[in-house]
Amino acid sequence: MKAIIEKANVLIEALPYIRNFYGKTFVIKYGGAAMVDEKLKDAFAQDIVLLNLIGIKPVIVHGGGPKINKIMEKMGKKPTFVRGQRFTDSETIDIVEMVLGGLVNKQIVSLINSHGGRAIGLSGKDGGLLKARRKVMRKRSAAAGTPEIIDLGLVGDVEKVRPQIIHSVEKDGFIPVIAPISAGKKNETLNINADYVAGAVASALSAEKLILLTDTKGIVDKKKKLISTLGKTKIRSHISKNIISGGMIPKVEACQTALKGGVKKTHIIDGRVPHVLLLEIFTEKGIGTEIVK
Ligand SMILES: Nc1ncnc2c1ncn2[C@@H]1O[C@H](COP(=O)(O)OP(=O)(O)OP(=O)(O)O)[C@@H](O)[C@H]1O
Ligand SMILES: [Mg+2]
Repeated sequence: MKAIIEKANVLIEALPYIRNFYGKTFVIKYGGAAMVDEKLKDAFAQDIVLLNLIGIKPVIVHGGGPKINKIMEKMGKKPTFVRGQRFTDSETIDIVEMVLGGLVNKQIVSLINSHGGRAIGLSGKDGGLLKARRKVMRKRSAAAGTPEIIDLGLVGDVEKVRPQIIHSVEKDGFIPVIAPISAGKKNETLNINADYVAGAVASALSAEKLILLTDTKGIVDKKKKLISTLGKTKIRSHISKNIISGGMIPKVEACQTALKGGVKKTHIIDGRVPHVLLLEIFTEKGIGTEIVK
């Protein structure tokens, strides 16, 4: 009996959150271990279906880096990275589009569907969702002070989000799952970092929350201690001191873009914890790192 009452209490504790979040949009970047480990995959899909059934509108943006590397290697192509970003030539972009827009996207769609949700896969091309431009990366050369342009190939930045297609699929109860690919000015296919896509989409939808799943407990400091809240000034200094580096930089930048665009809350959380989404959304204390203005 006691156990049953406890179960009821757990559900009742969630009531204020459910009331508060009913009808709101949560943009979730899905990546890392939560996309590889079978148990974590199921837990993620269950969380998404549950959120959707209690009236929250989840929008998923996914990455898929490791899978792209694996398939490239199978095809006899060596992945190359320039300052942490994938160099993408025209053969590589075909592989990226096949793997992200085909394989990975449909695996997530069918994972959610197998748990009773109704997901629909989109890339940034579908319905003109994402307008992109070629990314220009500049590196200041110490000697002359003139910025040197680093060519990343077919890599894009989000220029504009046209969210109509998301509204259309949500109106009929579908959960959108977005692959971070789009077309540029010359209709060339561009590969975009999924964190940036999630930030831009969250902004365009005025989402309630942007949640980025990753393989660390959140952002950690020099002593590897979790930082639970982080604002603009600290972010700048942590990046300059190399405390925040590599794949964490697009995440904090995506959160900042989202906050500027009117998103209420942004979180970087540990995707290795089963049901971490529910823990973040339905508990007072929260989990991981919250990025604030
Ligand atoms: N201060 C920091 N705290 C935590 N992680 C950090 C920090 N600075 C850099 N990192 C690195 O950022 C990584 C997370 O970004 P990464 O791009 O590797 O993963 P992801 O975006 O979750 O997955 P994917 O890009 O494959 O979708 C961490 O694994 C860690 O190595
Ligand atoms: Mg990443």
